Amino acid sequence: MKLITTPAAIQQLAQEYRSDGLTIGLVPTMGWFHEGHLSLMRRARKSADRVIVTLFVNPIQFGPGEDLDSYPYDLDRDCRLAEEAGADVVFAPEKGMMYPKGFATTVTIGGLTTSLCGASRPGHFDGVTTVVSKLFNLTLPHLAVFGEKDFQQLAVIRRMVRDLDFPVAIIGHPIVREKNGIAMSSRNTNLKKDEMEAALSLSQSIAAARMAIETRGVAAISVDEVKDLVAEHILKHKECNVDYIEIVNSNTLKSCAILNEDSILILAVKINNRVRLIDNSMLMEA
Ligand code: PAJ
Repeated sequence: MKLITTPAAIQQLAQEYRSDGLTIGLVPTMGWFHEGHLSLMRRARKSADRVIVTLFVNPIQFGPGEDLDSYPYDLDRDCRLAEEAGADVVFAPEKGMMYPKGFATTVTIGGLTTSLCGASRPGHFDGVTTVVSKLFNLTLPHLAVFGEKDFQQLAVIRRMVRDLDFPVAIIGHPIVREKNGIAMSSRNTNLKKDEMEAALSLSQSIAAARMAIETRGVAAISVDEVKDLVAEHILKHKECNVDYIEIVNSNTLKSCAILNEDSILILAVKINNRVRLIDNSMLMEA
């Protein structure tokens, strides 16, 4: 597996792959790999001749006071794991290379970015879409795999690709969870032992919501009742601060008035105001 650290070198390699007639699958990440990231790499491996994994803790998608400085990082460890998962290349740009002096461009997607994580993390999605645009231009992928764990991010990227005519097929990949149900996340590393139970309440509250809908029947339970039930589960834990608990249409991300097969429960919770966790689940599918 190759490790590449400059934008010029990765773009040249991608151009060579293309002129050799090879298809390129991209998996953009910020590193500290877990099974969630590795499953995206294996997914890309299935559909592309060459898999490029990018590893860049993108400073412009973090707001002031967020966890940029404590974001876990270990390049050797991640290269080993990426190679095992079938990556051909890891692109980990050196500091300063992605946003050199004078950089002045922002890619902004409207609409979908104003609610949910966009509301509580102003500028976050501008940072994501700006870096992903650059990564598309540097790695020239035929396809790119993103996790449904960041459901809003996936919707925003799909919108961007349609609006800006990027010739890239976007593949969404299901959330990978620990045995206990918690969605895998690099940020779980920053949870202390005694915060684990509070963190578990996200996936447990989702399970409880799905169970309530199944047992009572979708016609007999309102959107607000489901949201209240989720909040009650989470707020049992004094460590939890709810950022948002919403039920939205999975295509538009607009609030649902009634539950139907497009309804997705989506939540963000801060644990001890230090570790921000997100989770989501369709409410009416297997
Ligand atoms: P990061 O948080 O490292 O996530 C990289 C990719 O892994 C994203 O597509 C994310 O949805 C996916 N992922 C994370 N946890 C997952 C899980 N438990 N199951 C399935 N997929 C999971 O998302 C980012 O980085 C950045 O915003 C990025 C797109 C790289 C732009 O900087």
